[in-house]
Amino acid sequence: ILYYSLTFILAYLIGSFPTGVIVGKLFYHEDIRKYGSGNIGTTNSFRVMGPIGGSAVLLVDVLKGTLATNLPRIFHLQGPSYLLLIAGICAILGHTFSIFLKFKGGKAVATSAGIFLGYNLRFFGVCAIIFLPLLFITSYVSLSSLLSITLIFIASFWFHDIFLTVIAGMMMIILFIRHRDNIKRLINHNENIVPFGLWYWY
Ligand code: G3P
Repeated sequence: ILYYSLTFILAYLIGSFPTGVIVGKLFYHEDIRKYGSGNIGTTNSFRVMGPIGGSAVLLVDVLKGTLATNLPRIFHLQGPSYLLLIAGICAILGHTFSIFLKFKGGKAVATSAGIFLGYNLRFFGVCAIIFLPLLFITSYVSLSSLLSITLIFIASFWFHDIFLTVIAGMMMIILFIRHRDNIKRLINHNENIVPFGLWYWY
């Protein structure tokens, strides 16, 4: 039980790594929390730091989820495959309530993608097929993320993996809670739009 607990704590710590803040401070000498939406995630990193900083944050935040999900495999823990998903959700909790940021953090979109990538490549493919067109159509990362996680939750039923469905449901709840401000902005028509996609051109 000790090894299992340590694995989940490590997954939380990996998730806690505040990529956006570190990349911002190291390469741009700025705290990205002071700019744009104030979020530490991929979207705001692209917004504040541009494509290089944004891509770096995207990559590391996705890999945080993938690495944390694979910790039970790396440590040869015996047990059912849902151990991987528990490690993944620990990383999400780390990312959203980071121990390094006084229990504040990001909105869990990129790290959630990393968990699906680490758990089931086919399911990750389904997620990408859902998310990317929605992002292109809506031109809002927040709106497409919320629509996607809802559809991803529904799609998970086809995979006959109850734990995958439970975790997708938990992610959906976390994402909606973390996007409260975005939802208000969407309703008030002042959400940040991305400079591509159909709605932007419209
Ligand atoms: O990556 C999170 C995204 O859905 C919204 O980010 O910075 O526009 O609040 P942001």
